[in-house]
Amino acid sequence: MPNDQNQHIVDIPMSSTPRFIASHTLLSSLQSVLVDLIELNLQGKQAHWNVVGPNFPDVHRQLDLIVSTARNAADGVAERMRAVGGIPDGLSSTVAETTGLLAYPRGEVTTRQTIDLISERIYTSVANARAVHSAVDDEDRVSADLLNGTIAQLEQHAWLLSSENRSPSL
Ligand SMILES: [Fe+2]
Repeated sequence: MPNDQNQHIVDIPMSSTPRFIASHTLLSSLQSVLVDLIELNLQGKQAHWNVVGPNFPDVHRQLDLIVSTARNAADGVAERMRAVGGIPDGLSSTVAETTGLLAYPRGEVTTRQTIDLISERIYTSVANARAVHSAVDDEDRVSADLLNGTIAQLEQHAWLLSSENRSPSL
């Protein structure tokens, strides 16, 4: 039940010392970012393995850098959820049901198509992270900082990757 209100069971601390406990809204925002990052990680590897064509070595290597960023960012978001009383759900079924990323094609994909497909998926991930950012920032600046770093890294990747298919502006 990925969108159920009870999905993110709050982990009540044993200590009576005051600590920040995230609202359901904050945890849902972080969860939505998490599933996109996990999906981007998976699609990036699929692309890394099956890309073919001109400039293969560079695109192949660049995809692994994107995978590394997505994996590390997902870990950071999931552990932030744990730190503020949430339960991240990174199960494959949850990711498949709730990610905003379009499915990636099976089989070999040309470098040109791969660049377009992965750039689009990075920007989809960024769009969601930006969409929830204000609400996250209102409640918890630390989580917002996490999103800021992730957005910056992903936008840099998208620029580097998509530039391969561009021509100079006139
Ligand atoms: Fe590899």
